[in-house]
Amino acid sequence: MANPSTTLPGVPDATGTEPHREGGGSVYVYQIPIRLWHWATVAAISTLALTGYFIGSPLPSVGGEASDSFLFGYIRSAHFIAGYVLAIGLVARTWWALVGNVHARQIYTVPVRDPKFLDELWWQVRWYSFLASEPRKHVGHNPLARLTMFFLFLQTALFLSVTGLALYSEGEGIESWQYKAFGWVFSLFGSSQRVHTLHHVGMWVMLLFVMTHVYAAIREDIMGRASILSTMISGWRNFRDTRE
Ligand code: HEM
Ligand code: HEM
Repeated sequence: MANPSTTLPGVPDATGTEPHREGGGSVYVYQIPIRLWHWATVAAISTLALTGYFIGSPLPSVGGEASDSFLFGYIRSAHFIAGYVLAIGLVARTWWALVGNVHARQIYTVPVRDPKFLDELWWQVRWYSFLASEPRKHVGHNPLARLTMFFLFLQTALFLSVTGLALYSEGEGIESWQYKAFGWVFSLFGSSQRVHTLHHVGMWVMLLFVMTHVYAAIREDIMGRASILSTMISGWRNFRDTRE
């Protein structure tokens, strides 16, 4: 579907900076691949965090794991399947950033030297700190969301995928493609144990993002001047007023 937003105010310019929007109406923002990827990633990360937690802190096995049940095997298996969904999804999402609309690129860059971006960012910080009386309107992500999506989500998801595939290669053996592609991770961090620990820490960084992200998404949906939750379902941003 064509993106009608390109002629409207409040749309990112070539550098991806998005001035706040003046006016109301509806804009088609998130294309279908973005929305499918978002909810598939939510399912994958939820599975990964739950199963990962039990891999790190296993339940006591009564009378010997193998003779009783294969529960731990299923937990690991679910972790690996969800891990591949996350990692392949990330590659597909990056491809879509190259071929999708202007909003598809937003979480891949942060124009930190652009005064317009910094101005919008400062306003958003003040709004979240209860210091600004009114939120500004944005067609795509607000600048603070963009900043956290780049630093907290994207970098962490990449780190978890790379360290996860390296850990997976230990089971597959040094002849596997996983070891050939990701074996260097062990040399970089010194030992397998350290990679386990850092992969584990990565989970908590990701959960930090998820908690603030879900809080902000629901709060903005209620307090903000545009649709938020339904936008990640239908793709359309609906503005509730026409004021600046
Ligand atoms: C594991 C949990 C989650 C992760 C990792 C996650 C990650 C993300 C990312 C990376 C984006 C940017 C999308 C893009 O531009 O490609 C995004 C957007 C969004 N997410 Fe999530 N999300 C999670 C859970 C949720 C949940 C549970 C909700 C609903 C309550 C939600 C609502 C939204 C909304 C509404 C947007 C669009 C925000 C906007 O329009 O600025 N997310 N999320
Ligand atoms: C959001 C993403 C992810 C989270 C939250 C996560 C979480 C975890 C946690 C907490 C552990 C336990 C570490 C320890 O204490 O030893 C773990 C282990 C592991 N993860 Fe992940 N992980 C993620 C992504 C991935 C990916 C993409 C892969 C790749 C397939 C992967 C493969 C593994 C492997 C192979 C182990 C070691 C299993 C074992 O030693 O039995 N993980 N993960």
